[in-house]
This record gives sequence, structure tokens and C-alpha cells, in this order.
Amino acid sequence: MMQGDAMTTLRRRQFMAAAPAVLLGATMLPACSQVSDPESYESVAARIRRADASVGMDGSVLGQALSAELVRELVRFATLAPSSHNTQCWKFAQEDLGLTIGPDVSRRCPAVDPDDHHVFVTLGCAAENLALAALAHGLHAEARFDAVRSRIHVALSPTPAQGSPLFQAIPARQCTRGDYDGKPLSGNELKLLERTGTSNGVQVLLLTDRTAMERVLAYVIQGNTVQLADPAFVKELEAWIRFNRAAAVRTRDGLFSVCSGSPSIPTWLGDLAFGLLVNAKGENDKYARQLRSSAGIAVFVGDAADKTHWVEVGRAYERFALQATALGIRNAFLNQPVEVAAVRSPFAAALGLPGLRPDLVVRFGRGPTLPPSLRRPVNAVMV
Ligand SMILES: Cc1cc2nc3c(=O)[nH]c(=O)nc-3n(C[C@H](O)[C@H](O)[C@H](O)COP(=O)(O)O)c2cc1C
Repeated sequence: MMQGDAMTTLRRRQFMAAAPAVLLGATMLPACSQVSDPESYESVAARIRRADASVGMDGSVLGQALSAELVRELVRFATLAPSSHNTQCWKFAQEDLGLTIGPDVSRRCPAVDPDDHHVFVTLGCAAENLALAALAHGLHAEARFDAVRSRIHVALSPTPAQGSPLFQAIPARQCTRGDYDGKPLSGNELKLLERTGTSNGVQVLLLTDRTAMERVLAYVIQGNTVQLADPAFVKELEAWIRFNRAAAVRTRDGLFSVCSGSPSIPTWLGDLAFGLLVNAKGENDKYARQLRSSAGIAVFVGDAADKTHWVEVGRAYERFALQATALGIRNAFLNQPVEVAAVRSPFAAALGLPGLRPDLVVRFGRGPTLPPSLRRPVNAVMV
């Protein structure tokens, strides 16, 4: 890529971080008229994230075979999980009395995720949602990763229905990329988050000490600086950005600017605005502000660096995120230190984890929510 191209794409990344809402009448909030339009962003988001299950909570539905309606509902809840760049890199298939979740390799992000770490963490997040939704519908879910076929098998069997607080939090969960209120969480809340985010083969370190958090920030800035200097990373990121509602509703995937606190603007205006909003320090300053507004940082670490553990990390993170949501606590990723290979080892050593691969870096705290992201229709993710 020519230097000029790299500059343009760098500006785009900074724009995502810092574009002010004052841009030529750009909108941040849903317009009332859009709510009544069934194809508006707000209507589509509300349909995707509806909380009410449209099928009965009765394990006997399993009798002969899973009904198509129940399968669709379980997959809808599974797809409300987070995915890197909101690529929704999953494919679901019905299999006997269960489902499989495999990667959609056409949605890989080789620049930010060359070894598919995030892809398999994402599948783990979806598997956790699926298991919670199954239980709420009277089905026990047993998830097992098949390393040979690189997919998760979820076997379902009847059990008394149990709608847990974690299940109820699924439609409201989001990665909240705004500033938080800077206040600490209670000891009980921290204990609950730690317990929920720990599982067989996955530990979560909760850092609430300001000095430790500043040390993490230094690695975030280091990783972010490397990523922004990489034209392939920036080009890939740009391809997943949706600058306005029409673009977001058209694809129902990717990073809609408003979900990150930036304005919704026409694509042509976005291109123009990048050129006007160059700020070399913008992104790192934003991360510093956001991290310092947080109550703490959670680092998820698997016992081994393989796909089986990455799926487990996804499941543990998703439980953590849902528990946080149930408590009114927000969270968002700051994964730069684990995404850049050259930063990862020093970061692990600084955490006292030499030889291990830290998987995810997440900040948490209380603060306002942002508009919800979209998902593709269930039909589009079922094979
Ligand atoms: C494995 C993984 C890695 C992610 N990394 C980042 C990240 O580094 N920075 C970020 O802002 N969001 C990150 N995300 C969050 C996604 O962008 C987010 O889940 C997606 O846009 C959908 O939004 P939602 O989670 O609010 O529904 C990551 C998500 C996953 C599952």
C-alpha cells in the first residue's frame, strides 16, 4: 500500500475513535420516526434482541426431534454473542438431537487474527449462549469441541427448564465502548465476576489496583501503535466499519460507528471527515481515558494455547459478560496486547504468567449503555 493510502486508513481508525457528534448534523440517537419503520436500524435491532422466547419452555419438545422453531430460537440467542469485529464468523447445523457450531472461514480476519484465536473464542461465546438458552427451554446442553473437525458439538437432552439471570441478560449484553464512571465495584461483585469467569482450564485475573492498570495501559498503547502502523490491519478494520444505519442494516454485521460512540454519517461524508479529523494521538488517548474510567481490568488466560482452550476462554468470558450485565456492569475489550505477537510475551511476563498466552483483555465498570449492534438473520448462519 502506498503511504498516502496508509494515511487515509489510519485516519479512519482515528475517526472511529474520536469523531465528534457535531459533524454536520450527524445523528447519535434513534430518530422517533425510524422506530415505526420495520426495516429501520432500531426496529431490526429490537427484533433481533427480543427477550421473549417464542417457543414453550418444555423439554418434551425434544420427543422425536428438535422442532425447527426451537432450533431457530436457540440459534438466535447464540448469535447474540460477541464476535471479533462483529464478523459473526459462525455456522450452525442441526445434528441428531443437537447442534454443531463451526467457523465460517469466509469471515476470518487474517490481519488481526492470523491463527484464528478470536474465531474460536467467538465460537465459545456462541456455545455458552446456546447452552443457557437451551436450559431456559428445558434442554440440558453438553458442549464438546471436536479438534479434528474444528467444531463444537452441542448434545441436547430434556431437563426441567431454568431461566437463569445469565440467560435473561443475553439480549442486553453488549461491549460498551464508552467512558465508565471510575467508581470501584464492591468486593462481592468482584468475587462473583471472578467466579463466573473461571472454568476448567481458564483463569481470569482481575486487576483493580491503579498501578497494575496503568501497566496494562502501556501494553495497550504499545499494541495499538503497532496495529495502526500496519496497513493490512487498518485496511481489514476499515472493511468491517459501517458508517451509517443504511450500511449497517444492509449487512447486519460489522462495526456500526454509533455503537462505538461515533456519529452515523453518509459514507461520502465519512471519507471527507477522516481527512479533517487526523489526530495522531487520538486513539491512544481515548484508550487511556477509557481505561482510567474503568473499575478494573480482567485478563482471561487458558492453560494451553490451542483451539480447545480458546473455545473454553470464549465460554468463560461470555459468562463473565452476562454476569456483569445482570449486575448493571459494563465491559469492553482492549485486546491489543494479546493480538500483537511481539507484545504478547512481554505482557504475559509482566502479568506473572511467563510461558502462558493471555487470551483476552477486558475493562469493566459502570456507565451508560450505547446502541446495540445488529446480527444477520438466523437463516444466513444455518447450513
Ligand atoms: C474474540 C473477540 C475479540 C474482540 N476484540 C475486540 C477488541 O479488541 N476491541 C473491541 O473494541 N471489541 C472487540 N470485540 C468486541 C466485538 O467488536 C463485538 O462483540 C461486536 O462488535 C458485537 O458487538 P456486541 O458485543 O456489543 O454485541 C471482540 C470480540 C470477541 C468475541
